[in-house]
Amino acid sequence: MTFDPEQLARHDLRPLRELLLDAGYRTETLAKHLKLHPEMLLADTARNSLIHGDSLGSSPAAVLGRLFLLCAPVPVPEVRKLSSSLIQALYGYDLVRADAAGRYVTGNVTITEVDDFYYLADRLFENTSGTIGVTISSDVCMPPHASSFELAKAIPGTSPDSAVLDVGCGSGCLSLPLSASAGPVTGIDTSSRAVAFSRANASCNGASARFEHVGWEKFDSLEQYDLILYNSPDERAAFDLVNDGLPRLLRHGGRAQVRLVCDVHAEDRDVQGAVDRMTSVGPEFDVRVLAPDDSLFSLSRDVLAHGGRPARTLLVERHSEWPAYVDSLRSRGVVEVASIILDISRGRR
Ligand SMILES: C[S@@+](CC[C@H](N)C(=O)[O-])C[C@H]1O[C@@H](n2cnc3c(N)ncnc32)[C@H](O)[C@@H]1O
Repeated sequence: MTFDPEQLARHDLRPLRELLLDAGYRTETLAKHLKLHPEMLLADTARNSLIHGDSLGSSPAAVLGRLFLLCAPVPVPEVRKLSSSLIQALYGYDLVRADAAGRYVTGNVTITEVDDFYYLADRLFENTSGTIGVTISSDVCMPPHASSFELAKAIPGTSPDSAVLDVGCGSGCLSLPLSASAGPVTGIDTSSRAVAFSRANASCNGASARFEHVGWEKFDSLEQYDLILYNSPDERAAFDLVNDGLPRLLRHGGRAQVRLVCDVHAEDRDVQGAVDRMTSVGPEFDVRVLAPDDSLFSLSRDVLAHGGRPARTLLVERHSEWPAYVDSLRSRGVVEVASIILDISRGRR
């Protein structure tokens, strides 16, 4: 991974947003062209890249979509259809590169538009000649994803004095939109790339927020927060924050929303039972479970019991990984997998 987001974060990136807007680069436009729901386009971009990579067209929005969303190379003559100031900005910020023969241009980042905000982040795959190559490293900034949208939809309204803490901020896609309506917004992440991309995205979208490269465990905060968000990487990480982090970081009267994919064991009886088993905070914390409808990260008891596979799932990266995934669930006594949001209040609601 050679792209350096820290360099990018040193620029004032507001002109980039204007240029992307002028080019009509909007998720809704691309999704409409492909007859997809915008969230479905963003939820599974690698699969969509394979299926739709060639059908997006060559309008400026489509060229940007192929470069930065579907992560595919675009022939130089098609890139030349972009405005010269946009081409200059893309090369100037090192967001694209040409191949040695000067025939194709490839993106160095992803750029995702959600609700008028542009988020730059790492590329998790490359579509090279119709083959998907996955590029995941330990220090990576995840683009806005289906899991981000599940949590974003559950975020409660904020007041202008609410202090917000975005734990595991990634691209900043959960907290940057709050910066206009909430009080101070702070994002933290153990990934230095995520922090650099969040800073760049704050600049690009003219949003005011502070980002720090630190895990919540070592985050030495002088204050407590009214709203804490965490789209957690896994179940253990989620409950560690709930049990050990919230008592220190969540203000009395405050609210936290923690998204996770939760394994339900036979002895838990149901999702609530699994949450009760894993939660050890005192009675001043009211923990409720929200379950987004039709989550691509859930696996019902029936489907798991009968060994089936949902028509669409994001629980594994590739089809071929499914049998091993199901075997590992069964060997651990898991009877259901549920994508949930823990909606936690400290004190009375
Ligand atoms: C699933 S991603 C969510 C990114 C972003 N919030 C979103 O919703 O698109 C989880 C993020 O948590 C970060 N992370 C993992 N453990 C952490 C910890 N202990 N403290 C802070 N961030 C952490 C990861 O680096 C990653 O960026």
